[in-house]
Amino acid sequence: MAHHNPWPDEGNTGHIWDEDLRELDNPPPLWWMLSFYAGFVMIIFYALYYPTIPLENSHTKGLAGWTQVGEYHEDYKVLKDWRKKKFADQEEKLAALSVDQILKDKDLTTYAVKTSKMLFGDYCAACHGAGGQGNPDFPVLADDDWLWGGKPAQIQATITNGRIGNMPAKGMMGNLTDEDINHVADYVIALSNGKGNDPSVAAGKAVYTKGMCFACHGPAGKPLAPAGAANLTDHIWRFAGDKDDIIRTIKYGVNVKKNGELIPHTRNAVMPAFKERLPNPEVNIKRLAVYVYSLGGGQ
Ligand code: HEC
Ligand code: HEC
Repeated sequence: MAHHNPWPDEGNTGHIWDEDLRELDNPPPLWWMLSFYAGFVMIIFYALYYPTIPLENSHTKGLAGWTQVGEYHEDYKVLKDWRKKKFADQEEKLAALSVDQILKDKDLTTYAVKTSKMLFGDYCAACHGAGGQGNPDFPVLADDDWLWGGKPAQIQATITNGRIGNMPAKGMMGNLTDEDINHVADYVIALSNGKGNDPSVAAGKAVYTKGMCFACHGPAGKPLAPAGAANLTDHIWRFAGDKDDIIRTIKYGVNVKKNGELIPHTRNAVMPAFKERLPNPEVNIKRLAVYVYSLGGGQ
């Protein structure tokens, strides 16, 4: 640093390096200073307007009342209104038409199926599996084997009012012995293999008559009308197809109650009613009936 200032009149600060590098004392340009002050004003405005200052357990809320979640909800509402408008026609049709009529309209069916998937996931999949493929002790919906009928109106009725299958323990009169049950279980297995007339299961066939199994399962293991009884002639097992499982079903029945409580070992098979569980049930039950039908309906 030099002691002598060779440029005394130019308003430098007297700091000089390397002979002629010196620090001047000019004010910053006006535009720069204005932006600088404007920045302060903005900071104060922001600090007041938005949530800013952390407090011990919370933070200042800001004059705008803005929150991230609030903004999300607003945007979501815009999207929802947009969708409501966009799909208003289809929703109106679903409300006005019967399930049969909906199924005749290919575009509307596609729409109903697509908009069912979330509902099915929320309300049905826990029991019936994500694609209606069933779970142990809950029936498969994605096939054409129905306990309660696979016509659109029957599916709709199942979902609306629920279903409770009933099979008495030990035959219609409750008078089958363990030996009888053993024989009739062999007969049931033979039925599922198409060997119901095999002489080796004649004893079981007689028990089938004695236990009046035909009243529900039909004279040859195939129910005459869908009323909740399983078809015994196919390989689709509502419960499980081992002999022990079959014996259990015959011995303890399905949904058998004593003094208002299920007896031990009886099969518990209740399809809940959804007319009061679903949001907007009139439309949503039809939507789901179309979906279930599209998975495997027919009979
Ligand atoms: C708590 C478990 C549970 C839930 C949840 C449930 N179901 Fe079921 N569902 C069952 C059971 C158990 C049966 C069989 C009833 C029987 O054995 O008679 C059944 C039967 C059915 C049937 C008749 C199948 C046939 O073979 O005839 C349909 C259709 C059906 N459910 C649709 C649905 C739909 C759609 C939903 C969702 C809105 C749903 N279920 C939710 C347990 C459930
Ligand atoms: C009052 C009607 C009724 C009578 C009588 C009846 N069943 Fe059933 N049976 C049912 C119902 C309902 C089911 C269960 C279907 C369901 O809820 O999934 C069933 C289920 C079964 C199953 C299980 C099928 C499977 O796929 O897992 C077997 C096996 C069976 N019955 C055999 C018999 C035999 C053998 C008799 C005679 C001793 C008999 N049932 C009498 C109504 C009856």
